[in-house]
Amino acid sequence: MPKIFVTRPIPDSGIKLLQEKGCEVVINEAARDRVATKEEILAGVKDADGLLSILTEKIDTEIMDAGLPNLKIIANYAVGFDNIDLEAAKQRNILVTNTPGVLTNTVAEHTFALMLAIAHRIAEADKFSKAGMYRAWGPELLLGTDVSGKTLGVVGLGRIGSRVAYHGVKGFDMKVVYCDPNRNEEFEKEFGAQYVANVEEMLSLCDFVSIHVPLLDSTKHLFNEARFKLMKPTAYLINTSRGPIVDEQALANALKKGTIKGAAIDVFENEPEITPELKDLENVILTPHIASATEETRQAMSRLAAENIIEALEGRVPPNLIK
Ligand code: GLV
Ligand code: GLV
Repeated sequence: MPKIFVTRPIPDSGIKLLQEKGCEVVINEAARDRVATKEEILAGVKDADGLLSILTEKIDTEIMDAGLPNLKIIANYAVGFDNIDLEAAKQRNILVTNTPGVLTNTVAEHTFALMLAIAHRIAEADKFSKAGMYRAWGPELLLGTDVSGKTLGVVGLGRIGSRVAYHGVKGFDMKVVYCDPNRNEEFEKEFGAQYVANVEEMLSLCDFVSIHVPLLDSTKHLFNEARFKLMKPTAYLINTSRGPIVDEQALANALKKGTIKGAAIDVFENEPEITPELKDLENVILTPHIASATEETRQAMSRLAAENIIEALEGRVPPNLIK
């Protein structure tokens, strides 16, 4: 009976799928409300054929070696996989998979929720109302910014970036400017989108900039002091990708100085830490890495991770193999 080690409890549909296929599923129940420790993962991966990992865990050579010779697959419960040493996995013939596709709509929705919320000052207004400060309707009370008709910069036109662009164009008559290593002329035609060669060219054009690239050496601190200075002082930054893509201290400074108007971010440079100054600012909305966190999507991610494991253990190419 193949053993699967799940580093933290996850929604149960994938667990059931694995059990139905005859797997012994060992879940690290201790890590329900905290990250799994290295010791727990090292102990759990021993003798395991499959490792179902969470994005908060660094899956390194030590963990892979502890799983050998049995370990055949690491199925990451996330679309991002910057927590896994891919090169080391390749050297050890361990397959690595992620969970793309099933979370695209949800993350795009959360991106728009953030965009609308920061533009319409929803978080501030909620705090204001609950604090009993609403005494009279006011012509200039909590004035925000329209989203409709504005220019949306999409950094990275993958599945999620495309879906965000789609909502912007179809739902809010936005003009889309995008950059991506792969130009997509079909997309440009369909959505009237403008391609720019790099992020610098985009920034001065955009009212909202939304980040949808993976974390790579080349994208770390893609948004830094110099790039914030290229943005309009009326512009907003939205980040639902990975925290380290934004220099968080530079963002706090830019928000404080009015270099940009606002930001709404779901991911942080050193999660779960948040740069303290950000917590004191009104022109930023912070959500705790929940862009894919709906009941439906977290179950779908569970099933997809399980399917990847099953395919790999049955000797087939898993659907979401990372090459
Ligand atoms: C979440 O951040 C994911 O990569 O799925
Ligand atoms: C993630 O699924 C992406 O390609 O944007």
